Amino acid sequence: MTEMVNKSASASYSGRNTTCHIRGASGILYRGIRIENISYPLTISSIQAAICSCLGNGDTPMEYFLDDQEPELLDVWVKEYDLKPGGKFPQKNVDLYDPLEVSITDFKEELVRLTSYSVIPNSDFAVSALLETDQGFIPGVNVETGSWALGLCAERVAISRALSAGYSNFKAIHLYAPDANFVSPCGACRQVLLEIMPNAEAELYHGDGTFSRHLITDFLPFGFTSHKLKR
Ligand code: THU
Repeated sequence: MTEMVNKSASASYSGRNTTCHIRGASGILYRGIRIENISYPLTISSIQAAICSCLGNGDTPMEYFLDDQEPELLDVWVKEYDLKPGGKFPQKNVDLYDPLEVSITDFKEELVRLTSYSVIPNSDFAVSALLETDQGFIPGVNVETGSWALGLCAERVAISRALSAGYSNFKAIHLYAPDANFVSPCGACRQVLLEIMPNAEAELYHGDGTFSRHLITDFLPFGFTSHKLKR
């Protein structure tokens, strides 16, 4: 249906590469691909990636377009956002969301601006992220959904947006949470960060105004790995 992005990096365990597009009320199309993790339950489905990207851009999910495979929990997402099937993927005049921000002069200022996009009906706890690639920066904010388990942290919104749009080569992730004394990725994000960007750094802008820099490898000593699961 449409160009598949980053096949090898997304469904490396099952080979079930799926792509989903969500059209927001703005008319913009948000692409999501399936992003698996060696810890299978941390897998981000294509529709989850697309919906969280849409919501985290201040948009409202309206319609879905699928490739030949159904994403996991399609019915749950359709019901939650009253999504309509978009039918055939539009071939012309497609306004595809490109998350790339090319130049950022002040990280903290941009992270603060991004927190206004956090979708936080449950926690009222904003988190923002800027994922640094060699082409620019991919923003992410935390997105909470009716089902607490199906939302995504800011880090994983940034990662899934980046991979879905074909960006890779991640150098660092910049994080901010105004209400955290010490902002630090949760355990699930550490597992995903370690798999996707093991040689990168995290730059943390804490709520108390201090800053610290860390190696992703230091966040998860003795992280889970197994040759058996590699394809
Ligand atoms: N959250 C993040 O976005 N990143 C983290 O590393 C920690 C937690 C979000 C998820 C949820 O929206 C809220 O913070 C409370 O858990």
